[in-house]
This record gives sequence, structure tokens and C-alpha cells, in this order.
Amino acid sequence: MDSKILPFLQKIYFPASIFLGKQSFMFLKAIQHERKLIIIPKSLKDDNKELLISLFGDEFEYFFQDREPQIEDFNKLKEHCQKNNYDYLIAVGGGSVIDSVKMVKKELNIKMVAFPTAVGSGAEVSQYVLLIDNGVKKVFSSPEFLPEIIILNTSFLNSLTKEQIIFQSIDALSHGLESLASKASNHFSDILALDSIEIIYRNLNKLNEKGNKEEILEELQIASILSGLAQSSAATGLCHALAHYFGVKNNISHSKAVAVFLTDVLDLNYKHTDKYRKIGRLKSLSSDNFIKNIQELFSKLEIKLEKINVLSEDIIKAAEEIKKDICSLTNPYSPSLEEIIEIIKKHQ
Ligand SMILES: [Fe+2]
Repeated sequence: MDSKILPFLQKIYFPASIFLGKQSFMFLKAIQHERKLIIIPKSLKDDNKELLISLFGDEFEYFFQDREPQIEDFNKLKEHCQKNNYDYLIAVGGGSVIDSVKMVKKELNIKMVAFPTAVGSGAEVSQYVLLIDNGVKKVFSSPEFLPEIIILNTSFLNSLTKEQIIFQSIDALSHGLESLASKASNHFSDILALDSIEIIYRNLNKLNEKGNKEEILEELQIASILSGLAQSSAATGLCHALAHYFGVKNNISHSKAVAVFLTDVLDLNYKHTDKYRKIGRLKSLSSDNFIKNIQELFSKLEIKLEKINVLSEDIIKAAEEIKKDICSLTNPYSPSLEEIIEIIKKHQ
């Protein structure tokens, strides 16, 4: 199933199974005799050698994915899988690894298990795949991208730095906020989005306190799934369209690119939609002040936003590309090129 109309329909997509908590690794016993390939970044494998051996044994087939997925990476993994007869593809990593595996599992019809090792991408529960083709980030969508199994366990999160936790969580927060206001938002996606916003905001606010890192990571991992489910169903908006463009052009990680534009896009959209009123149902944020509250959170966490490089002669073309991004189409309000340019110029 593949249709251009699906992103705009009100709907909810769920993966088949999510195993949670300390016992979640036990699922692997159920597939211990199947032929499996682990797709993982090399550095993550090196940092988690003992954990991986305890889960999969010491003679295991690995395939390394070390960058945001390019179309060539997808082709390489696909060719490798075509030569071998795998029953399961096991993606261990953040959005980059998970997205490249989703593409292959759909094309070759191989079952997929995802072990998310980030707290923000939501890729493991998303019907979207982002692949870079010739320097341009392309978005593909299909419910068939969803993994059959997701294992949510905090063991792989221990190597995340504080900076990674902050930016990945801001990305997850943006999934909640953007899907809440999306043209395709609906009752189900709203419940998921609102809960994720509350959990992320509350936990980021206590990130500087000592002694509760494990509990914070557990909550952020759950919130990342909730906001991922919301965005997979309702889709994101202009902030993600801007981040897709400049993330690739300026070589900025996705989560850092999202952080640059989040509050500006909220400011712009707030003037044109009443969908953010739903935030009034939350305990920690109010629908009148939530943008200011998020700006204060950015200051409290000492978030430094990246600068955007774009030549003045290229800025109109950039705004045109951003307006064409699929995420701009689900934004609650259709911004003019001038409004997009104004946001870009604030960050040059
Ligand atoms: Fe994102």
C-alpha cells in the first residue's frame, strides 16, 4: 500500500507489538533459532559489546550503518539481504539505522525488530522514512514501514550524553507539538501528543537535578514513542520542513535543526490556529504561555542553537523547497514564502 493521500487523512497507525521494561529482552528467546542480521552503528556496537554478546551471543552477523541514511546505504543493505536468507532484521540504533532497515524490510518483506537507542526520533513507530538522495532529504510514507516488534529497554541509553538527551527530547517534543496542530490531527493522535508533551517538558525540567537519570531516561523513552506514534499518524509541520532542508544543506543533525526552528514556527502557527488550546488540558503547561515556557526551558538547559548558512541569492529557492516539503502541507497554516524567509533570517 502506498498512496500520496494517506498523510492527510485522519488515522492512527500502530506497530504490531511493543515489549517494555526490564524483561523486554526476553522476547529474543522466542526468535533464538531464526536467522538474524543486526544493523547498528559501529561505535554503538563497540560501546555495548558485552550487552550485545549477552543478547545475541558472540558470533553474530553485523551490518554497520554510521550516518544519516543515503540512498546508497539502503541499496547496499538491500543487496546484502538479497544474498542471504534472513528471517529477521534487527535494527539497533537511532532514526538513521531504523529508517534504512524499514525501507529494506518493506521491499524484501523481511520481519523487523527495532531496539531504539535514542529518546527522540520516534522512527521505530513511524510510517515515515527519511533518506538522503543527491543531497536532498526525501520523505517516504507507508504503514508497511512499521516494524513488527519494538523492544523498549533503557540499557542502550546509558551511553547517551546530556547534550544528546536534550536535543533528541526536543525533537520528540516537536513531534508532539507539531502533530497536535497538524491538519490530520485527531482524537487518538491528540491523546498521544499531549501525554508526550507533558512527560518531556516535566523530565527536561528536572534533567539538571542529580540522581534520577535512569528514571528520566525511562520516561523520555516512553514519551518518544508516544510522540512518534502521534507524528506517524498526524504528521509534523513547518518546523520539520525547515529542519529537513537545512539539516542536509548545513550538515546539522536532525534534532539540532529542529531545535533551531521550533519556537519560531510555534509563534507563527499560534496566530493562525486554535489547535494549541488543547494544551490547556495539561498540568505543567498552559495554552496561553506554552511557547514562553518552552523558551525558558531552552534557557534553563543552556541550549545553543546552530547558525544557518544560506546565501542571500539562494534564500527564495530554499523557502520554495521548504514550502513543498510534505510536512509543510500538514502544517495547520500555509505560510507565505516571506514568512518562511523571515524565520530563516533570524538564525543566520
Ligand atoms: Fe523529528
